[in-house]
Amino acid sequence: ALITLRQLLDHAAEHGYGVPAFNVNNMEQIHAIMQAAAATRSPVILQASAGARSYAGEPFLRHLVLAAVEQYPDIPICLHQDHGTTPGVCMRSIQSGFTSVMMDGSLREDGKTPSDYDYNVRVTRTVVDMAHACGVSVEGELGCLGSLETGKAGEEDGIGAEGTLDHSMLLTDPNEAADFVQKTQVDALAIAIGTSHGAYKFTQKPTGKVLRIDRVKEIHARIPNVHLVMHGSSSVPEDWLAIINTYGGDMGTTYGVPVEEIVEGIKHGVRKVNIDTDLRMAATGAIRKFLAENKKEFDPRKFLKEATKAMSGICKARYEAFGCAGMA
Ligand code: G3H
Ligand code: 13P
Ligand code: NA
Ligand code: ZN
Repeated sequence: ALITLRQLLDHAAEHGYGVPAFNVNNMEQIHAIMQAAAATRSPVILQASAGARSYAGEPFLRHLVLAAVEQYPDIPICLHQDHGTTPGVCMRSIQSGFTSVMMDGSLREDGKTPSDYDYNVRVTRTVVDMAHACGVSVEGELGCLGSLETGKAGEEDGIGAEGTLDHSMLLTDPNEAADFVQKTQVDALAIAIGTSHGAYKFTQKPTGKVLRIDRVKEIHARIPNVHLVMHGSSSVPEDWLAIINTYGGDMGTTYGVPVEEIVEGIKHGVRKVNIDTDLRMAATGAIRKFLAENKKEFDPRKFLKEATKAMSGICKARYEAFGCAGMA
């Protein structure tokens, strides 16, 4: 059944686990997530960006998710809109049947320029008023996502600030977070603690701690009833990176967020963990390898099946690591 983010994360908080929120654009991604969730008995967050809606088309996206709900009646599913840049985008998703929306007011409407605090409060509060009247949950964001190593927000074609960010913007302030939540009444809050979008998060292999989990603890202590969200939480799997680079790809050397650090965040109030890049890489690696090894094949089902299997493997590993398994 479709449930709200609030319902789903209240259960996660009560039982001390975190839920991966995977980005979806097509049938194979949804198949992969649902197969892993069914195998592990995990609750599901399917999140779609504005880019997903324009890629698939609103009716296709909606019906793909409804198909998942129909095929897996026992698995709770939240349909969440990722990174809404305006209240209008959020309204369109509410109209489309989403049970949760993110109003990302940390950036201006262009999705690139950091906004000021009052703007963020204003647009987020507007969305909360509309969404809560419709029984829909809201995620806000405070602080600017960006790597503490590079100062970069990452992902040139996606959502993220351009250029190099001032270090002070890269960490959410606990007192400001408390004020923001009180003024906006969001259900969940995305915080900046050193993660960034995309595959190029860190240039060096993480040895110690790359995230500021101490900051998660401070924020959680100030606003214990707000579910914390970590964006940019792909781990950039080394095995898939190697496969991509072996079979004709050229992604270079790069590192993501170690799963153990996410698990540490979950111990201190992180309930939603956004992952897109890892599934993109698993799909690309699996398809490159299959086609390189099967040069006579031209049935797309053959390589798409490999992609689905690869993505599902990542989903299953995250459900297990984040304590989701057995919770649905
Ligand atoms: O935060 C961005 C997500 O990875 C979605 O990316 O806008 O290319 O769909 P997208
Ligand atoms: P990754 O690029 O690390 O997968 O992050 C995805 C994300 O935060 C979507 O909102
Ligand atoms: Na989101
Ligand atoms: Zn994000």
